[in-house]
Amino acid sequence: MLDEKKMRLLESKIDAFRIREKDSDERKVMDEVFDQETLMSLYKLFNDGIVDTLEYSISTGKEGNVFLGTTDEGECAIKIYRISTATFKNISKYIVGDPRFKGILGNHKKTVMAWAQKEFKNLNRMYDADVNVPEPLGLHNNILVMEYISVEGHPAPLLKDVRLPAPTKVFRQVVESMRLIDESDLVHGDLSEYNMLMREGEPVIIDVGQAVTLGHPLAQEWFIRDVTNIANYFSRLGVRTDVDKMIKKIRGG
Ligand SMILES: Nc1ncnc2c1ncn2[C@@H]1O[C@H](COP(=O)(O)OP(=O)(O)O)[C@@H](O)[C@H]1O
Ligand SMILES: [Mg+2]
Repeated sequence: MLDEKKMRLLESKIDAFRIREKDSDERKVMDEVFDQETLMSLYKLFNDGIVDTLEYSISTGKEGNVFLGTTDEGECAIKIYRISTATFKNISKYIVGDPRFKGILGNHKKTVMAWAQKEFKNLNRMYDADVNVPEPLGLHNNILVMEYISVEGHPAPLLKDVRLPAPTKVFRQVVESMRLIDESDLVHGDLSEYNMLMREGEPVIIDVGQAVTLGHPLAQEWFIRDVTNIANYFSRLGVRTDVDKMIKKIRGG
């Protein structure tokens, strides 16, 4: 049984999003995000007590939107992958070759749901391996709920937007996170200053949907790409980085 009052509250919140967005592109995105099926999924998360309220939009990306919400424990981040959009083209190449996602290609909606599920699984695996990532809180269809990474009530800034007083220290923390990710048998696959949030001087890794297991045909190529991105970014900040040494640190030997 769905709670009528909660449903009406949620509906009026979402209508407010639609009205507030004067920019017609942004408004179109809001209409896309909250299609009928996604609304039903949100109700389900409300009803199961995983989410209590939906507050405001934090980010609009190519494939999904991130909102601030609350749970009875406090704030949470709600990432909604858009079902009704044509911009989901990059995904299949990540899913092809991953044994966990056999037989779902060809159906767009199923692909989106599998993608959200993949991000949730990856997040759980990294969280269990003590990687500094948001705590996964719940998943239903195309909606992922996780810990909200904030600084004084605001979304934590991306690494790229922060002036680091001690870049070498942060560099070492990132390499340590990469070691733990590798140990959990995953490669992030899109690691850069755009997918790390800085909280209390520590990098928190986000956006793990594309992460693949080490057995994936592209795992090695993406691993090297991740290492190179990080090396390049920190060397621009004056840190002495060495790709071979980083790989040794991450993989041992
Ligand atoms: N758990 C979180 N806590 C706070 N902000 C977040 C969280 N997850 C994502 N964000 C914000 O939303 C943005 C988009 O999230 P991300 O997972 O990188 O999706 P994408 O890049 O695919 O749009 C991030 O750059 C960050 O600003
Ligand atoms: Mg991102």
